[in-house]
Amino acid sequence: MTYNFTKAPNRKGAYAGKWTAMTLWSPHANEHTLPFWVADMDFDVAPQITDAMKSEIDRLTFGYSVATPQYFEVTSAWLNRRYGWEVSPSNIRIASGTLHAISTMIKIASKQDDGIIVQTPVYHKFAELVTKHGRTVVENPLVEQDGEYDINFAQLEELASQPNNSLMLLCHPHNPVGCAWTQEELVKVADICGRHNVTLVSDEIHSDLTRMGVTHLPVSKAVGGAPHIVTLNGTGKTFNLAGMHISHAIFDGEELRNKWDAEIGLTLPNPVSMAAVEAAYTKGDEWVDGLRNTLDGNFEFTQAYLAKHLPKVKMTIPNATYFAWLDFRAFDLTDAQIDEIMIKEANILLEGGPAFGTGGEGWQRLNLACTHSQLEEGLKRMCAAFANYK
Ligand SMILES: Cc1ncc(COP(=O)(O)O)c(C=O)c1O
Repeated sequence: MTYNFTKAPNRKGAYAGKWTAMTLWSPHANEHTLPFWVADMDFDVAPQITDAMKSEIDRLTFGYSVATPQYFEVTSAWLNRRYGWEVSPSNIRIASGTLHAISTMIKIASKQDDGIIVQTPVYHKFAELVTKHGRTVVENPLVEQDGEYDINFAQLEELASQPNNSLMLLCHPHNPVGCAWTQEELVKVADICGRHNVTLVSDEIHSDLTRMGVTHLPVSKAVGGAPHIVTLNGTGKTFNLAGMHISHAIFDGEELRNKWDAEIGLTLPNPVSMAAVEAAYTKGDEWVDGLRNTLDGNFEFTQAYLAKHLPKVKMTIPNATYFAWLDFRAFDLTDAQIDEIMIKEANILLEGGPAFGTGGEGWQRLNLACTHSQLEEGLKRMCAAFANYK
């Protein structure tokens, strides 16, 4: 079956935060603003998923629900089929989203005032959650050269060796820069954390959205499993189901798994969400590959378009995610000025790099998980607006 990634759902006026709550990010957004900010997609959900959700609704009963053994088996089968990662269904736990899982991990694997290591520029909610839980953000900024990113291992070793730094939040693949870390890098990170008793929470929520030909390597698989590693993933990004609030935490070790169970207690997930996940993980392969093809095309188009119409903006096609990370540093403009030109002159909404912490200055994140025509219109507006600036 071929799927249609050229048709945009009409999300205006719906509950879609990306379209209806733009003023949360910029007070200047209006009804004509084209959004390229929130990390969800402007594509219809796969029909096999919506069919399964509708069937669940047709039961006309929404009492307390529990995940069946089959739910965990199909989740484990997906991980095996897509990444060659063998996970015992008994090591998978359900969370009501990745942020919920991160919060839970912070609570059970660190204590008040501890330092949590994050590698900036990184998904802004990491720092927000760390601070909310009374822990301290400890930055190990990534090292950028010509749009390629590396991990500063010497500094990571130094930070991990400090006894108060008890947890590391790895973003793999990394939002916003798009790196899917390599075997060598993952082994080094896991080894440093392991030697210094640092719990390694690997947020792998973007793992299915690698470029065609790139296979995601879970950090747990890279090291053959290790008790200090917890992997977070799910269908939220892959199948555009973030609003269904269901995701997974996967434990390599008993101790952290038991702490999770003690913290969470009985888990009673939403039945419609569970039906969606089961359909996604049993019938979603072809749809995801169609999506990945479309995203690859969008990246190539964006790169070529910018090279032709706004060559001062540099962009490297990342090996994962649906984010183009655009380098505006060649302009003689501040971040605030860039944001203002985007929204006031181009009338498009991106996320400015500084929101992602150190190293984000001068960059903009463009979410290109949308139809070609929406993307082209956004790029046209951007190029026209910035053509007036040096
Ligand atoms: C790296 C990363 N982690 C977590 C989330 C949020 O995930 P969830 O909606 O499952 O809480 C996002 C959303 O953009 C993300 O990019």
